Amino acid sequence: MQLIHEIPGLRQTLAGQTEIAFVPTMGNLHEGHLALVRQARLAAPQGQVVASIFVNRLQFAPHEDFDRYPRTLKHDCELLAAAGCDIVFAPDEREIYPELQTYKVHPPVDLDQILEGHFRPGFFVGVCTVVLKLFNIVQPSIAVFGKKDYQQLMVVRQMVSQLALPIKILGGETVRSGEGLALSSRNAYLSDEQRVEALRLSQALKALIAGWQAGGRDIAALEAWAMAQLREHGWEPDYIALRRQHDLGSPEPGQALVALAAARLGSTRLIDNFEVG
Ligand code: PAF
Repeated sequence: MQLIHEIPGLRQTLAGQTEIAFVPTMGNLHEGHLALVRQARLAAPQGQVVASIFVNRLQFAPHEDFDRYPRTLKHDCELLAAAGCDIVFAPDEREIYPELQTYKVHPPVDLDQILEGHFRPGFFVGVCTVVLKLFNIVQPSIAVFGKKDYQQLMVVRQMVSQLALPIKILGGETVRSGEGLALSSRNAYLSDEQRVEALRLSQALKALIAGWQAGGRDIAALEAWAMAQLREHGWEPDYIALRRQHDLGSPEPGQALVALAAARLGSTRLIDNFEVG
């Protein structure tokens, strides 16, 4: 496996490759990322699997954890090599943003300003801008994103479709601990006690789904009830929501749905979701 830090070197190495499967990450990798790399490997058996590691300042608000986000390049590279990655692209900030990034990708308001976008203004602009830039640098034929960041996957899919990028976007299933905690780089911030408490987020989502499946149709009341469960145990929920899988709009019976949540446990913000039907 090759580790490349600069754009010209990466372009030279990939020149002439027609099958490139790409997994963009911010590093501090866990089994969830490695599953995406294995999925990329399977999707492009004869091609090159490229993973990027870049903590993208543009998608963090000033009060968020950009500075304390764990940087673990050496260990990440060992994990990536074992998972079948061919090339790691790990640029520094000057490589990706040599000047102030004034051209940015703004997703449509109906996706950009709901759920994650409502609570993290500017987040999807930062994500889309760096993802488009990484796509231009790597020029993949396939890119794999985790379903754990459900709205991010949808935003990227729409960007690729509307901008006619020749890239097939694959969604990777969320990987969970034995107890059911969705793997996340941010789990590293949790104390042992919080790690146990963190399971309540997926439980609250399952309770919301159970309420819907039992015939509850007052979605606002179901969501408020699920959030109250979390608050009782010291969480600060941003949202727990039941939405259509297709576009994250308000659900109707008979449609494929997704339950999504974001909540803060201490100073750590966790997200999770489950598809229904
Ligand atoms: O999901 C992530 O890790 C990031 O949002 C991504 C897609 C690598 C863009 O910085």
